[in-house]
Amino acid sequence: MSDLLANFQTLWAQIAPIGLRRDGGYDRFAWTETDRALREWFGRAAAERELAVEQDRNGNLWAWWGHDPTRAGPPDGAIATGSHLDSVPSGGAYDGALGVVSAFLALDELRTRRERPAKPLAVVDFAEEEGARFGVACLGSRLSTGTMDPDRARSLRDVEGTSLAEAMHAGGADPGAIGADDDRTARLEAFVELHVEQGRGLGATGSAVGVATGIWPHGRWRLRFDGEANHAGTARLDDRRDPMLPFASTVAAARDAARAHRGLATVGRAAVQPNATNAVAASVDAWLDARAPDGAALEAIVSDVHAVATSAAREHGVELAVAEESRTAGVTLDRALRSRVVDALGGLPELATGAGHDAGILAAKLPTAMLFVRNPTGVSHSPEEHASAEDCAEGVRALARVLDELVWG
Ligand code: GLV
Ligand code: MN
Ligand code: MN
Repeated sequence: MSDLLANFQTLWAQIAPIGLRRDGGYDRFAWTETDRALREWFGRAAAERELAVEQDRNGNLWAWWGHDPTRAGPPDGAIATGSHLDSVPSGGAYDGALGVVSAFLALDELRTRRERPAKPLAVVDFAEEEGARFGVACLGSRLSTGTMDPDRARSLRDVEGTSLAEAMHAGGADPGAIGADDDRTARLEAFVELHVEQGRGLGATGSAVGVATGIWPHGRWRLRFDGEANHAGTARLDDRRDPMLPFASTVAAARDAARAHRGLATVGRAAVQPNATNAVAASVDAWLDARAPDGAALEAIVSDVHAVATSAAREHGVELAVAEESRTAGVTLDRALRSRVVDALGGLPELATGAGHDAGILAAKLPTAMLFVRNPTGVSHSPEEHASAEDCAEGVRALARVLDELVWG
């Protein structure tokens, strides 16, 4: 076994138990005890490599080679690599974690042949990328780039009613400090995120690693249907105001609209009150996730779904409130950086993705690039997500080559 493969397996085994559920999925939510354990793992991985760690104003972690954050603020011309450690509910092991583990191992690779970096190099863990706890994806990078209002962020609440401000405070961070971090983002020269592939694009190419071209526009909308709770055995059908009916039409409309406009639309989360078998529901909260190859198609999907929800709600005497929770414009990743990455790797398949990433948010402020590692199941946001250890080691090798080019090239 190569050293790199063994090193991958060792570091991977250290993070693997954190947040692991009995069913094989991961619950790794921001600012929880599991998140604290992940942050401690990050601190240990950095300490073993004598990297100085800092937590920025938005709760993102940075482990530095060639810079001491206790002595000076963010350095000029730094290169950063990493991803996120949080997950969706019952998520896969690789989404996010693979990018952070690979970043530490790529740095190890570089250190076997380089004494010190020509430019400071950081391993980063961005907070709440999935938005699984507070609803807004890429929260840490959105705050850093100033694309999320700090007051709105502080007041976001999880399902139990805990605000981001309260959760950060409990996690030892200062919610009063969150907001745009121009001093840091403006000084970064480039960010490279390695990520497990979330489809089957690489499978057909025979390559273990690919390079991202861009990210589809996407967003999240919350639809609240308010009806009237009633007895399932006595309320006449004509007397009911049942929010489940317009909700069901809306779920079906999302599929139709996605097909019509060649995008994707999903209602993967819903909360029914009071959620009783023998009661007509009082209300349904539903979350629509929509994505499309261009902004016009995304707009068309959302407007079709909205129109069906509105007319179905009216038909059943149900109140409807729709709120946009987040929207991210499509991103074409920096062409110059991408061709440098492709050249450094001797040519690799290039592919676009419908998944959101911190690299897409940071792209508004600095050149960013992404590497994908083959996922033979093609499944993600599920315990079925997978990448072989050999492919992961190949990903680390590729990331190290890219970083070598960016730091010393
Ligand atoms: C993040 O994984 C997203 O695309 O939702
Ligand atoms: Mn994800
Ligand atoms: Mn991810």
